[in-house]
Amino acid sequence: MHIQNNISLKPYNTFGIDVNAKHFVSVSNVDDLKQILSSKNYPNKLVLGGGSNMLLTKDFDGLVIHINLKGISIISENDNTVIVKANAGENWHNFVLWCIENDYGGIENLSLIPGNVGTAPIQNIGAYGVELKDVFESCEAISLETKSLQSFSKSDCSFGYRNSIFKQKAKGKYIITSVYFKLSKQNHNLNINYGAISSELNMMKVSHPTIQDVSKAVISIRESKLPNPKEIGNSGSFFKNPVISKTLFNTLLENFEDIPSYPVSKQEVKVPAGWLIEKAGFKGKRFRNYGVHKNQALVLVNYDDAKGIDILNLSKLIQKTVHRLFGISIEAEVNIL
Ligand code: EPU
Repeated sequence: MHIQNNISLKPYNTFGIDVNAKHFVSVSNVDDLKQILSSKNYPNKLVLGGGSNMLLTKDFDGLVIHINLKGISIISENDNTVIVKANAGENWHNFVLWCIENDYGGIENLSLIPGNVGTAPIQNIGAYGVELKDVFESCEAISLETKSLQSFSKSDCSFGYRNSIFKQKAKGKYIITSVYFKLSKQNHNLNINYGAISSELNMMKVSHPTIQDVSKAVISIRESKLPNPKEIGNSGSFFKNPVISKTLFNTLLENFEDIPSYPVSKQEVKVPAGWLIEKAGFKGKRFRNYGVHKNQALVLVNYDDAKGIDILNLSKLIQKTVHRLFGISIEAEVNIL
């Protein structure tokens, strides 16, 4: 293991924010990870996976541990399903493509989501009607307290909308090292009811879609709406879609008859934060080298060497304005450090 000093974290976060880590190490096996976690030399540690869900606002005065655990393997299979294990440092989209090449179905709707396999369960990544929890079998994680590997079943993880035990009571206590997925080998259960997917498939002139077609449709939708972090720094949706009471929603409908909503429960609906932010006038707004993406108001972007603190301040301004206009609090989805 090679510990480096004063390393820029710019290549390690999809926002492309240039802050420094006092110490930095990339770990490629679980034993090294256990060893470095046990080290008393670095009391202040920060774990980085794909760096796709965080906004770095300052230098880190400690040791950054980059999780670089690679490997994908088949654990068991029968005629219909396969259990695949992927290590935490695998790039999420490469893993999706590997599954599609092998005709393993279930995560094609989650194509092109930035980040790594190991961070996917933390916020239960989701898109186009599918969430990670739908294919999740279990995961292994190192306890920071005991430095031992523990297994978490699906129910242990308490998955919710962009939420899991790893954002709640287990927050900061474990490092996920691998994830086990249960995928289909035949009679794939395609999720193509999400509006944009079916119209994209129509445009592609596909009437009997395969998982590969669905993945292509998702990639094409995402490329048209969401900026590619390799070209423009961003962290996907910066905010979560808020859940509000039907009473508030009905009041809002009186002034905004086109406000979209998704049912949640008898008393509540979810409202797209992107719509609220667009109505608040922020869509496509650019402030020097950062701003709000022109095609999707949920996404804040770093055009070129922006400071994390500027993006954080913009997010606060958006939250304040949305609250003033609609009486709705929108919460950041990304972690802020
Ligand atoms: N909308 C606007 N203006 C905008 C953006 C959206 O009016 O600038 C409206 C759309 O017209 C539509 C509604 O909001 O009526 C929903 O938009 P969209 O289908 O694009 O989905 P979203 O709610 O904005 C969520 C996820 C995305 C995911 C998409 C597709 C969250 C926080 N975001 O966005 O996830 O790709 O659905 O399933 O739940 C991510 O987490 O990084 C991410 C991109």
